[in-house]
Amino acid sequence: MSSENACFEHKLENEIAIEPKDWMPEHYRKTLIRQIGQHAHSEIVGMLPEANWLTRAPSLRRKAVLLAKIQDEAGHGMYLYSAAETLGGDRADLYQKLLKGQMKYSSIFNYPTLNWADIGVVGWLVDGAAIVNQVALCRTSYGPYARAMVRICKEESFHQRQGYEAVTALANGSEEQRAMLQDAINRWWWPSLMMFGPNDSESPNSAQSMAWKIKRLSNDELRQKFIDNTVHQVEALGMTIPDPDLKWNEARGHYDHGEIDWEEFMQVIHGNGICNHERIQAKQRAWDEGAWVREAAIAHSNKQQKHVA
Ligand SMILES: [Fe+2]
Ligand SMILES: [Fe+2]
Repeated sequence: MSSENACFEHKLENEIAIEPKDWMPEHYRKTLIRQIGQHAHSEIVGMLPEANWLTRAPSLRRKAVLLAKIQDEAGHGMYLYSAAETLGGDRADLYQKLLKGQMKYSSIFNYPTLNWADIGVVGWLVDGAAIVNQVALCRTSYGPYARAMVRICKEESFHQRQGYEAVTALANGSEEQRAMLQDAINRWWWPSLMMFGPNDSESPNSAQSMAWKIKRLSNDELRQKFIDNTVHQVEALGMTIPDPDLKWNEARGHYDHGEIDWEEFMQVIHGNGICNHERIQAKQRAWDEGAWVREAAIAHSNKQQKHVA
C-alpha cells in the first residue's frame, strides 16, 4: 500500500474527514461525484412537484411556507453541486448528464402531486425519509459533503414539520378532507419506502461505500428507522398505512412490513414512471431559457477582466 493510501485509510479508521486537497483513491472521488451529483439533482427536481401547487395553496400562509420550502430545496441543490465541484466535478457536465438520462435523481419525484393533501404528505413522508438518509450522511467521510448535510438537515426538519402540520389540519377537518389525506398516504407510502433503494442483498455497490464510510447505514437499516419513526405519526392522525403485513415484532424491537413492489421501482428508475418525461422536459426548458443568463454572466466576467488588465 502506498504511503498516501495508508494515510487515507488511517483517516477513515479514525473518523478524520477527507478534505478536497487530500489524496484519495480515484474510485472514491468518482463515486462521490456521482452520489453528490445525483443528490443535487434530486433536490432541484424535487422542487417541481411542489411548485405545481404554489398557485393553488389554500391560504396565503400555506403559500408562503411552501414557497420557503421550495427555495430551501434550490439552496440544497446549490450546496451539493458546490460540494461536487470541490472533487473536480463540473456542474454544467453534471446537469447535462441529468438531461441525457445518464445520471439519476430520486425515484420519488416521478410520482404526481394530484391534490393538496399530497403536498402535506410529501413534506411529511418524503422529506421525513430524506432526513433519515441525510442524518446518517452528516457522518459521511468526505468533509464538504458531511458539513453540507448538517445545514440541510436543519432545513429538512422544518420541511417535515410543516408537512405534518398541514396533514394534521386535514386529519382534523371534514370527512372529505380526511378521505383526501388517506388517499394521499395510500399513494405515497410505498414510493417513500423505495427512496432508500433496493434491499441490501440487491445493492452491490453498498459494501464499498460502507467500507469508505461514505454510507454509514445500509438501505434496509435506514428504511427500518423510517418505518419505526412514522407508524406512530400515522396512528396519531387516525389514518392507516396501506400494508396489511405491517406489525410490531417484539423479538426484533422493530416493525415488520410487507414486500415492496421492486418491479415498480425498477420501472421508475429506468425512466418509465408517471412523470419521468415531464420532469426532464421541465429541467431542459429551464436550461434552454437560462441561456441568456449564462451568456450575460460570461460577458460581465470578460468585461471585468479587461477592466482589471
Ligand atoms: Fe432538500
Ligand atoms: Fe426538503
